[in-house]
Amino acid sequence: MKGFGSGSNRLEVLKGIDMEISRGEMVALMGPSGCGKSTLLNIIGGLLAGDEGSIDLDGRQYGLKGPANVVDIRREKVGWIFQDFHLLDHLNALDNVAIALEISGVPALEAEKKAEAALIRVGLEDRMDHIPDQLSGGQQQRVAIARAIAGERPILLADEPTGNLDISSGQDIIKLFKELCRGEDQISILMVTHDPDIASQADRMLLLRDGTVAASDIRTAWGLDEEDGEEE
Ligand SMILES: Nc1ncnc2c1ncn2[C@@H]1O[C@H](COP(=O)(O)OP(=O)(O)O)[C@@H](O)[C@H]1O
Ligand SMILES: [Mg+2]
Repeated sequence: MKGFGSGSNRLEVLKGIDMEISRGEMVALMGPSGCGKSTLLNIIGGLLAGDEGSIDLDGRQYGLKGPANVVDIRREKVGWIFQDFHLLDHLNALDNVAIALEISGVPALEAEKKAEAALIRVGLEDRMDHIPDQLSGGQQQRVAIARAIAGERPILLADEPTGNLDISSGQDIIKLFKELCRGEDQISILMVTHDPDIASQADRMLLLRDGTVAASDIRTAWGLDEEDGEEE
């Protein structure tokens, strides 16, 4: 459970979320704007404390602890991917990935090796020296994915990862996600998307509405959305 504000300004955003994600599973999270998708990701990612409830992730239990008390979750367990990539403009692809590892405590040389391996894994072996401006949107997102997987984290949280990409680059990202999930380290991915076509390629789709999640197929999701129109 999670709400914001107090008294008459109180807004209960998440009311009863009950969900489980398996190793190697790709789950799409859909729902109207403002329904709490990012809030849920922030709690799972250890950036925000919930008001009630708990999260089990790879042997760690948390959910109510403030960000200062889940440093290990952020450093070791969860990789983030954002709509607008969040890369450092002045660093090349290799350094963008390596610096994230160094911040989590990996020594510089080892960080560079792991960054290289991650960039190779996302198909950017020939773009390591390029800064973001010299890369296409799809390539920038792949640098961000390399950064997210370089630390061998079991789950990736992706908030509209294809929102800024054209259809074909978006498809490439989903294809890469699938490879990561099917790979031997069995990464799990929880991905927010508004795109029904993208969502339909996940193993499972969850619809967040009125503070709870329900398993859903794409048709139901869009049927419901049409009925209610835009919700803010
Ligand atoms: N830090 C905050 N303080 C107050 N209200 C917030 C805060 N973060 C999010 N909200 C509110 O919580 C609701 C859910 O937001 P969010 O999780 O960003 O939705 P979504 O990602 O599904 O669009 C919105 O009504 C938003 O205005
Ligand atoms: Mg959001």
